Amino acid sequence: MDDAKGPSAIVLDQNINPWSVTGEIAEDGTVKPIDYNKLVEQFGTKIIDDALLARFERVTGHQLHRFLRRGIVFSHRDLELILDKHEKKEPFFIYTGRGPSSDVMHIGHMVPFELTKWLSDVFEVPLIVMLTDDEKYLIGKLDRSVDEYEHFARENAKDIVAVGFDPDRTFIFSDYGFMGGDFYRNITRVAKRIHRGTADACFGFDASTNIGKIHFAAVQAASSFATSFPFLFGPDTAQAAKIPCLIPCAVDQDPYFRLTRDVASQLGYSKPSLIHARFLDALQGPGSKMSASIDASSILLRDTPKQISKKIKQYAFSGGQETLEEHRTKGGDPDVDISYQYLRFFLEDDQELEQISQDYKSGNMTTGEIKERCAKELAKFCTSFQERRAKVTDEMLDLFMTPRPLLWRGVKTDTVL
Ligand code: TYM
Ligand code: TRP
Repeated sequence: MDDAKGPSAIVLDQNINPWSVTGEIAEDGTVKPIDYNKLVEQFGTKIIDDALLARFERVTGHQLHRFLRRGIVFSHRDLELILDKHEKKEPFFIYTGRGPSSDVMHIGHMVPFELTKWLSDVFEVPLIVMLTDDEKYLIGKLDRSVDEYEHFARENAKDIVAVGFDPDRTFIFSDYGFMGGDFYRNITRVAKRIHRGTADACFGFDASTNIGKIHFAAVQAASSFATSFPFLFGPDTAQAAKIPCLIPCAVDQDPYFRLTRDVASQLGYSKPSLIHARFLDALQGPGSKMSASIDASSILLRDTPKQISKKIKQYAFSGGQETLEEHRTKGGDPDVDISYQYLRFFLEDDQELEQISQDYKSGNMTTGEIKERCAKELAKFCTSFQERRAKVTDEMLDLFMTPRPLLWRGVKTDTVL
């Protein structure tokens, strides 16, 4: 067919799942930016529209976080139900997680975690953070040890504490450490209700997938249920089962929770609500997400200002023109320019961001200048993170990781029901 020809014909659809993220691939090998609208259609989620944003602002009485203002958090499942709960002063909790695949985290990981902190502060609700050391062991190379992943979990947990979570409202656990009891009871309840065929269709598993990775879906699902944490709202009572959670994550995690929501109804548990963030692009450009295992793709939280500046100068994909002369007349494209995109995620000041966009589009601002502005902002972000991280002690971490009642709107959760 005619429209299948030409250099830009698409030979591979975009593919987004918890383990890999790629945009459409064209015949000539170029990777297209991720089409988030298409993803909303494929996954069956809903766009967060202006009306919902306005309601969010009204119900919480807080100015929206820049991720919400700028469409970085773009899609949801049943966010309205959570706003209803908040309005009626009925309890819910927030659940998010991290797969400790190495001992470093990058600035992309800060997107869901910064959002999570903001949400838990704005709603004043308990937060559960799951570290999936088991998941990363199961999907990792065969010569890696369980010990390594447990070590990564602890290092990552310190990074997460450094985001600034309130210890009175936050419980962090690693799967290896917390497995058992009511959590494991829920895992098996979920596992029994997910058929191989459903999981294969949802995740693309095949005959070569190890059975641990298949089973893990039930682990990530089970933390969506309040009854997995009996020290919070009590054990498996009908009332605790009805306490829902809100899950902030990047959209690659949605497949897990699509299955979770199906199973929840069968178990008589509340379905989790979700809000989905876009990916912070890899330095190489839109079409793949920043990944900690590819150093040249990412800005690590531990990078120094010098390293950041070097990576941005050397690798950050530019939406500018080939020559300065051309750039001055034609201007740059902020939509594909990585430095601009990172500023969109991390620069707080709306006015300055808008000014940068205009100056870049008009050719007033050069690629070198936008890269410099971006490196400066990220250096500020990482330096302040590193200062907080240096103050996280083992004692603090042990407190965060101790099962205990937390605070919901200033009330101890074990007295709420
Ligand atoms: P992990 O460690 O791959 O990622 C942790 C969180 O960061 C998001 N993320 C990104 N966000 C923006 N830009 C990026 N480049 C980027 N890369 C990763 C992920 O979507 C995730 O929200 N299995 C999970 C851990 C987990 C979890 C959860 C996450 C367990 N339960 C509940 C969210 C909600 C994992 O390995 O995430
Ligand atoms: N499965 C996620 C990953 O591989 C980690 C994770 C577990 C997670 N639970 C979560 C992420 C909840 C977001 C929300 O990245």
